[in-house]
Amino acid sequence: MATRTVRLIGDEILRKTSRPVEEITPRIAELIEDMFETMYAEDGVGLAAVQVGVLRRIIVIDISKDHSEKMCLVNPEIVFSEGEQCTSEGCLSVPEVSGKVIRPEHVIVRAKDKDFKDIEIDAHGLLAKALCHEIDHLDGIVFTDIMIEEDKD
Ligand code: NI
Repeated sequence: MATRTVRLIGDEILRKTSRPVEEITPRIAELIEDMFETMYAEDGVGLAAVQVGVLRRIIVIDISKDHSEKMCLVNPEIVFSEGEQCTSEGCLSVPEVSGKVIRPEHVIVRAKDKDFKDIEIDAHGLLAKALCHEIDHLDGIVFTDIMIEEDKD
């Protein structure tokens, strides 16, 4: 395992669409481990593969404070969303900026896990927000594109 360099806003790769994963090769398995290590090293709650320069539809998330809720989603798709929340977001690719974004309060996401098994995640609140934020990255969208107000201070 190793940490990888996080690509920063202005890097064109962040604007590209990531490609689906067809199978978990050793290379993809290593990427996933490195994504967790990078996310934890940078103190983030989520990371998309494109943020470490790999255009594959893979995200990792852990909204816990003690690394106890690690999840990896491969080829994630939002199949249901409802409600609304407006909360602050930040992004490892956009250091020093945080601001309000409107997201669904509740989403259901279907994906494959790190072993390419089908999973479904029913998420509210912070986890729903994190899923939407990371899935946006897979389509070249950064939270500042849809931020309605930047946080002051
Ligand atoms: Ni981000």
